[in-house]
Amino acid sequence: MSTYTWQQVAENQRNGWLVIDGIVYNPTPYLNEHPGGPAVLQNRFGKDATRDFNETGHTSGAREILKKYKVGTIDKTSPQEPWQAGGGTPASAQLFAFLIVALVVVFMLWNFFAK
Ligand code: HEM
Repeated sequence: MSTYTWQQVAENQRNGWLVIDGIVYNPTPYLNEHPGGPAVLQNRFGKDATRDFNETGHTSGAREILKKYKVGTIDKTSPQEPWQAGGGTPASAQLFAFLIVALVVVFMLWNFFAK
C-alpha cells in the first residue's frame, strides 16, 4: 500500500478519494449503493471525512465495506489545506459564539450593577 500526501488527495478529488482515520479510500464504485446517498460522500471527496463518518454512527458492517475501497495511507506529516479538514465547527464560528455569550454576560452584569 502506498502513502499519499494531502496534496495528492486534493489532486484526486475528482477521482473520488477521501480520508477516514488516516486511510485513503476511493469509494466511487460504492456511491450509488451508499445508504446515506451519494451526495454526502461526494461532498467529502479530497478531504478528511473521519469526523462525518464517525458522527453518523456507522456500524462495523460499514467499516468492512470500507476495506474494499482502500487506496493507501495518508502521510500525516504532509501539510493539509484548511478546506480538507474534517467537519466540526470552524474556529471563526466558535469565536463568534463566544463573543455573543460574552456580550450577554456583560449586558446582564451591567443591568445588575447599574441600578
Ligand atoms: C466510503 C465511506 C463510507 C461507507 C463505506 C459508508 C457506508 C455506509 C453504510 C453501510 C451505511 C448503512 C448503515 C451501517 O451499516 O452503518 C451507511 C449509512 C449512512 N451513511 Fe455512510 N458510509 C461512508 C461514508 C459516509 C460519509 C462520509 C457520510 C457523511 C456524512 C455518511 C453518511 C451516512 C448516513 C447519513 C447514513 C444513514 C442513512 C440512513 O440511515 O438513512 N457516510 N453508510
